[in-house]
Amino acid sequence: MVDAVRLISTLRRKEQQSVKAAAAATLEDSCKIGKEEEVEELTRRLPAHLTASHQAPSLSLLVERNVQVNDALCVKLLEDTSSVFAAGNGSTQWDCGILLANYLANTMPLEAIRGKRVLELGAGLGLLSKCLVQLGAARCVATERALAMPLLQINCSSNSSSSLIEVRELDWCSWSALEAQYEEFDLIVGSDLFFNSNYDVWNDLAHLFRVLLKPTDAFALLASEQRDEVKEREFFVLLTERGLEFETLLTSEDKTLFIYKITARHV
Ligand SMILES: C[S@@+](CC[C@H](N)C(=O)[O-])C[C@H]1O[C@@H](n2cnc3c(N)ncnc32)[C@H](O)[C@@H]1O
Repeated sequence: MVDAVRLISTLRRKEQQSVKAAAAATLEDSCKIGKEEEVEELTRRLPAHLTASHQAPSLSLLVERNVQVNDALCVKLLEDTSSVFAAGNGSTQWDCGILLANYLANTMPLEAIRGKRVLELGAGLGLLSKCLVQLGAARCVATERALAMPLLQINCSSNSSSSLIEVRELDWCSWSALEAQYEEFDLIVGSDLFFNSNYDVWNDLAHLFRVLLKPTDAFALLASEQRDEVKEREFFVLLTERGLEFETLLTSEDKTLFIYKITARHV
């Protein structure tokens, strides 16, 4: 785990130093590794309404990234490092998602995962769902808002992904219409879901956690990168106001990445 945290810190520093250079290099790599055929095949399998309503990505710009979660588990992702695909901040894998994947695979007891029904919020490239089905989850529903769906779909349709992953559109802000039809989950996971620039959706997100954590033994694991400690504390106030409790399970060495467990307060 400590190695993973160090690796993440190093990667982040490198990324901050040379984001543009890295993007250019990975673009070049994508051409070299010849992923076009595989990605085209994956895109053919996208549901028609997704390809029709959202601009298809420039397929040759997707870049393969392998996340080594532990000795036995390596997850292949396809990232859009040049952000030409309209997936916004869900187009690349964020550090705290890697931290949570490591936590799930290396620290969490397997019996807390095996046979469980999992919902991933703001899944991006679906890293957590891809890990959890490998670790024995009964099924994972990986969710995203509409503009990030095609890339998530591509990532969860690859040969290495399991049929146990279902990709579903779920916007935290239009949640209430879906509330009545949503089934129960044992475990909710999410990484890097709240940050300064999406303050406007924190209320909806907190409400969503409240609804999803109704089943008494369900819990959520939320990984977060702290960019503004004072501001981000407000998200936890919103959770507390809704009868939810949280505890910090893990803090990275540089104290910027956190994993929280969120549960409903039982009276
Ligand atoms: C910083 S990214 C993190 C992505 C991924 N979890 C990871 O760790 O790499 C935040 C994600 O939240 C999603 N998101 C933002 N607002 C959303 C909303 N209102 N409903 C659903 N997803 C949303 C974005 O599309 C994006 O994929």
